[in-house]
Amino acid sequence: MSCFIGKKAINNTMIGLKNLEYRGYDSSGIAYIKNNKINIQKEIGKIENLDKKIEYDENVNIAIAHTRWATHGKANKSNAHPHKIGKITLVHNGIIENYEKLKKDLASSYEFKSDTDSEVVAALIDSLYNKYKDMKKSLSKALKLLKGSYALVIINDDLKDSLFAVRKDSPLIVGEQNNEVMFASDIPALLHFTKNYYLLNNNEIVEANTQQLKFYDSNLKLLNKEKFFYDDDCEVISKQGYEHFMLKEINEQPYIFKKILDTYVKDGKVLDMFDISKYDEIEIVACGSAMHAGYIGKYYIESLAGIKTTVYYASEYRYQHHFFNSKNLVIVISQSGETADTLAALKLAKENNVDTLAIVNVYKSSIAREAKYVLYTYAGIEIAVATTKAYMAQSLVLLLLALRVHQDSNIIKYLCKIPNLLLKYINKNYRKYALTISKYNHIFYIGREVDYYLALEGSLKLKEISYIHSEAYPAGELKHGTISLMDKDKLVIAVVTDDDVKDKTISNLKEIMARGAKVLSITNNLENLSDYQIEIEENNLLTPFFVMVSMQLLAYEVAKIKKCDIDKPRNLAKSVTVE
Ligand code: G6P
Repeated sequence: MSCFIGKKAINNTMIGLKNLEYRGYDSSGIAYIKNNKINIQKEIGKIENLDKKIEYDENVNIAIAHTRWATHGKANKSNAHPHKIGKITLVHNGIIENYEKLKKDLASSYEFKSDTDSEVVAALIDSLYNKYKDMKKSLSKALKLLKGSYALVIINDDLKDSLFAVRKDSPLIVGEQNNEVMFASDIPALLHFTKNYYLLNNNEIVEANTQQLKFYDSNLKLLNKEKFFYDDDCEVISKQGYEHFMLKEINEQPYIFKKILDTYVKDGKVLDMFDISKYDEIEIVACGSAMHAGYIGKYYIESLAGIKTTVYYASEYRYQHHFFNSKNLVIVISQSGETADTLAALKLAKENNVDTLAIVNVYKSSIAREAKYVLYTYAGIEIAVATTKAYMAQSLVLLLLALRVHQDSNIIKYLCKIPNLLLKYINKNYRKYALTISKYNHIFYIGREVDYYLALEGSLKLKEISYIHSEAYPAGELKHGTISLMDKDKLVIAVVTDDDVKDKTISNLKEIMARGAKVLSITNNLENLSDYQIEIEENNLLTPFFVMVSMQLLAYEVAKIKKCDIDKPRNLAKSVTVE
């Protein structure tokens, strides 16, 4: 969401919304006050569709806009935000868990026009406002009745010079500059306007108009909030000549790698970033690519620091049985720092008095603030939905945690050469391999141990941006079922770099080729292993970083050949703040 109070509100709101486009959505809408009347415009599909319909008016000074990623109800105009009911117009991110009960209670007084939980929130606030005739009091009461997650920005027909906002477990930040205020779900929406911002804690209430910006706790006690300054480079939000953000972000990796080393390594030693050696066991919890980085972390932590490490999907972890003990460390990994399942898993660990360490990219995000300890990945703003640089940064920070215990000077020396070596793999031409891949409808990625962990991410990258069905398997598991699918219509992409298990994987490749399927190997093995081969010249413990880059570019090229919307793949969201 992107909401503005101040000069040129429609323009500012829409720029903000466009800068959040990368987060994924399927409809959009805006409400603004003109000639003392609320105007609402909603469209399905791209923001351009909305943009074309808006009558821009530079004199409008209050607007709230939203991009919706359908949860309750289809992606259509009536379900798109803003929702207006009674005197309340609002935009909402999050999910209201008790909306059905609330809707039933409110049904005799309101006629609902959408299937959304958000419209029910608007009705609830309106009913409270009718009773208390005080907006802040109504919001404070609403907080106690709503269950679930929400970031809400609200206009009240009786108070058309103000915006009100509240949040719980869904991100919302407040930018401020010269008595103008912007509410948004993430920093990129603000940066064209200001670098000064406030962070909201759960259940805080904000009242903004052009004279004042006030923060209250849930009991309406006035708060004195700390103002932050975003001091990263604003230019990051442009593609800087690259065709896609994803390609730009892949190309940034050598610099980010160096930045992370500059932060955590000095004089050939890993600094005292965090000591994992005091724990008997580590649990890594995350979602998507962050979880795949967790596996790379497991490989390094177990092989270098000798600490047993288990990796979990956050969405499973939060509902599983646990045997927490004080010698365990729970590491949560998240680019956005807002992923709902990861945040819930973190809270669960905290409630059980286990030490928690967050590896996070977004400064002061919810996960960064909730964890006992935090390490940042310094990857800068990532716009492409499919993560690349953040995943590599997470993997590197995990490796450094392991090296902090096992200060192997040879590995650390070699680490410093990686940024340059990465360039070689970034500049390689993957198109001919991509052309081959693009002809298949089903792809299997395989590998063993760290090669399997890399395969997991390679496969996810390919399927999310090219829409080709792809699955990753431990090479040894193929025989237990999946090999029955092997025929001339299948392509297997094999990662074969780990000396300890290489020979075993090579035998699996032979079995696959004997059944008519084609094999593309990504390997540092110099022999001719398969039908197609992408060569990795490096062969050591750090080879995974070169494989990562090669697989990212491979997926990127396939998606390009297939003319997919690379930066904004269908149905996906960059930051998944709902369960
Ligand atoms: C979404 C994104 C993925 C990301 C995952 C976890 O699914 O599309 O790219 O890996 O969320 O996100 P996080 O922000 O917690 O790393």
